Amino acid sequence: MISVWMTFFTSLIISIVAQPWYQITQAEETATNTSLLQFPPDFKCEAGKECSTTLDCSTGLSCFQATSNSSGCCLKALKPNETGCFLDDQCKRACESSHCDKIQSPARCLCDSGRHFLFNKCWKKCPEFALSEPITDEKGFSRCVLKVDTGAALNYMRRFRRQLRSAFC
Ligand SMILES: *[C@@H]1O[C@H](CO)[C@@H](O)[C@H](O)[C@H]1NC(C)=O
Ligand SMILES: *[C@@H]1O[C@H](CO)[C@@H](O)[C@H](O)[C@H]1NC(C)=O
Ligand SMILES: *[C@@H]1O[C@H](CO)[C@@H](O)[C@H](O)[C@H]1NC(C)=O
Repeated sequence: MISVWMTFFTSLIISIVAQPWYQITQAEETATNTSLLQFPPDFKCEAGKECSTTLDCSTGLSCFQATSNSSGCCLKALKPNETGCFLDDQCKRACESSHCDKIQSPARCLCDSGRHFLFNKCWKKCPEFALSEPITDEKGFSRCVLKVDTGAALNYMRRFRRQLRSAFC
């Protein structure tokens, strides 16, 4: 009996001691760093657009870069090929495999490399209703080329919506 209790207390103490308190500190530090790094130095959040969650933002905007300490900014989530991003997160909020290309002016959300643009989405591979080989322009922007007309392609996407769910974002 005693040894059962001993075992219990020993494991209890071990589990308390083993709490990764340092990881919490690290996570906070990372959050602070990314927020410092992610807003460009010349970025100013418009007056009245500061937020701690998306509930603080007006319709159509989402809260970006809020931490427990510092307020974020209400901005638009942008689909691939939409312009006006300041942060990668604005693109990623709409499509996980996209990023903000700040080299272009205005900055534009682009598909990550290895993804191909079509209908404001980033595809893992070009769908059946497009040529299997994407074309890449001189900026490295890769896109799929339809082999049927737009109407037929959109119909196909509607019909196979469920099957296509993981084909793009
Ligand atoms: C929050 O602010 C306090 C003091 O203002 C600072 O010591 C702490 O490092 C900050 N933490 C984060 C996650 O920014
Ligand atoms: C946070 O940034 C500082 C310098 O800006 C750097 O020294 C530190 O390693 C960074 N921490 C993390 C967790 O990235
Ligand atoms: C991306 O958007 C621009 C307008 O900003 C448009 O001219 C262009 O055709 C779009 N690219 C594609 C591949 O649809």
